Amino acid sequence: MSKMFDAFNEQIKNEFYSAYMYLSMSAYFSDTGLPGFASWMRVQAKEEVTHATKMYNFVLARGARITLKAIDAPPSTWKSPLAVMEAALQHEQFVTKSINDMTDLAIKEKDHASRNFLVWFVDEQVEEEQSFGDIVNALKLIKNEGQGLLILDRELGARTFVDETQTAAD
Ligand SMILES: [Fe+2]
Ligand SMILES: [Fe+2]
Repeated sequence: MSKMFDAFNEQIKNEFYSAYMYLSMSAYFSDTGLPGFASWMRVQAKEEVTHATKMYNFVLARGARITLKAIDAPPSTWKSPLAVMEAALQHEQFVTKSINDMTDLAIKEKDHASRNFLVWFVDEQVEEEQSFGDIVNALKLIKNEGQGLLILDRELGARTFVDETQTAAD
């Protein structure tokens, strides 16, 4: 199999790992008495599954092989809500690097279809880093303090799931 589709198979795993980790983070928030954060993370986990599925469909459409990889167990506990969100932001930065590396490879291999397909993910990663970064900043401002945390929890709880892979040109 080509290096490009090896990278897609690897990235499908990364997207599922993201979903798995965000579900674990959601469980941590449920446990901590922050149902809004928990719900936000569940929505995020669903979103990651749509990313994996979008790549899965693309690999098949190109006539390449899907070879699903083992998904590591995510951590199950963190020190604080801030520590969770910092870990999530760090993970999104890792995903951004991975998408950028795939784009470099597509350019190197003159694989224009993959290059075009990855543009959606490059844009998506800007949003992902921004939304996690905003929550990290808010948590730093309120310093894990009770009342601010409850207000933020209510705000995050309002997020609903939208399958963005279906709203954009697919
Ligand atoms: Fe993703
Ligand atoms: Fe993500």
